[in-house]
Amino acid sequence: MRLVEFAHSSGLAAIQTLQRKEQKNFGQFMTPPDVARFMAQRCLPTECPEIIRILDPAAGAGILSAAVIECLLNQARLPRQIHVMLYELDGRLIPALRKLVKRMRQRAHNRGVTLKVSINNCDFLLSPIATARKPIVDIIIANPPYFKLSATDPRALAHAYAVYGQPNIYGLFMAVCASLLAPSGRWCFITPRSWTNGLYFSSVRRYLFCWLHIDAIHVFESRRDHFTDDQILQEAMITWATAQAQTNAEIVISSSEGSSDLDQARLLRLPFNRVIGQDEERMVSLPVDMPTIDLTRWHATLFTYGLKVSTGPVVAFRAKRHIHEIASADSVPLLWMQHIKHMLIKWPINKKSEHIDSNAETAWMLVPNTNLVVIRRFSPKEDDRRITAAPYLAGTLPGTMLGLENHTNYIYRPGGELSDEETKGLAAFLNSRVVDRYLRTVAGNTQVNATDLRKLPLPSLELLVAIGRAICPGTSLLAVDTIVDSTLRPQQPRHTVAAN
Ligand SMILES: C[S@@+](CC[C@H](N)C(=O)[O-])C[C@H]1O[C@@H](n2cnc3c(N)ncnc32)[C@H](O)[C@@H]1O
Repeated sequence: MRLVEFAHSSGLAAIQTLQRKEQKNFGQFMTPPDVARFMAQRCLPTECPEIIRILDPAAGAGILSAAVIECLLNQARLPRQIHVMLYELDGRLIPALRKLVKRMRQRAHNRGVTLKVSINNCDFLLSPIATARKPIVDIIIANPPYFKLSATDPRALAHAYAVYGQPNIYGLFMAVCASLLAPSGRWCFITPRSWTNGLYFSSVRRYLFCWLHIDAIHVFESRRDHFTDDQILQEAMITWATAQAQTNAEIVISSSEGSSDLDQARLLRLPFNRVIGQDEERMVSLPVDMPTIDLTRWHATLFTYGLKVSTGPVVAFRAKRHIHEIASADSVPLLWMQHIKHMLIKWPINKKSEHIDSNAETAWMLVPNTNLVVIRRFSPKEDDRRITAAPYLAGTLPGTMLGLENHTNYIYRPGGELSDEETKGLAAFLNSRVVDRYLRTVAGNTQVNATDLRKLPLPSLELLVAIGRAICPGTSLLAVDTIVDSTLRPQQPRHTVAAN
């Protein structure tokens, strides 16, 4: 039996004796053989050194090290020695690791390679190598445990540099390992996708990108297929990186439904700054599950439909004396960012100074009370959509004019008027998952500004109107997604992702 299959079957045998809860407590979800090989193939160094040092920090039954050893021994140019460091917290898996090591040693010996292995039955995160964080290995391959830790857990305290809010153990594994690589060492992790954009992972991302150059990412689109043995429900991804500063090189992003179609993975190559945000949050955009509706096929923009986007003209500190807590006969509503929700304008909310004088002095900073799409200029970081837009229909609020504070943008038709359907359709489209996914692929920054809106490809006006017709007051985001998707999808030619 090949090393990978051997590790897989002994791993399965070991965890079959465990209760589901025990398995969860240790984060014991094993990598299937084809995924292990897929990971290993791409994490070998371009030039094989004489002595190569491998770390498997959450070894389980050792399938990932087995896959790396298999790949190394299949190469034409072999190393003289392979050193493997295995860490596994659960003592029940140690006998399986010992058996595997025996086989590995034999295989290496048959190829004239000396294999040295240390099996460490301890918590990797508290081990001397993890706490020292010295660059001592050439390849790190890991499927770390996934679960939340309390901020006072000794592991979180030992790796506080990678903690923001409530840590997840897998983020700590990723971060520590990044600092253990010798220059040009290779790093490969299979993980959930949450680290790519969650606020709680911002310290992990910042730390990782200090040490690593991201080379490639693979995304499993199906929620369960890749871990069929364990029926893991988390969406997963594999990341390959090298210990060097990030260059301008493109990042290869592949995707497959699961493990059974890995050989038909779809490929995209994107400039690194489209994948890795350049602001402080360092969010990672994964475009692969996006283009069932491909916006890049559309060439219309706001300009095509005679629409304009402007920034709310009321700068509160300058207009201070005209802004009031209480309405008067001469005042009109003043909309702030806080009044704008997805598909809804909520005014008043009795929190802000929500009224502005409408007179000769303020006339230049007011807009006519007409159909508009109003957009927040800044979205809360935890919001899962980059755009928060609401349709505003003429006369919904009192007065002939409206105040729009400077943290808002608004879309209108100069010299004409947006129809009700256009207003609702455009707002729904902007809030939709389709647009959100598109923006994540083209904009590293989380905030969408007026220039981004001007450049956004739009479907035909008829389709926007059709979306608008289906939108009722108070439509939820879920309903918006369904309406936008079902209206736009039949118009799309069958999707193909550009292969390189
Ligand atoms: C997701 S499993 C992956 C196992 C194996 N590498 C694979 O790919 O199939 C994670 C493994 O890490 C072990 N583990 C959990 N916490 C650990 C820790 N703090 N240090 C070392 N190993 C740990 C678990 O017992 C489990 O075997």
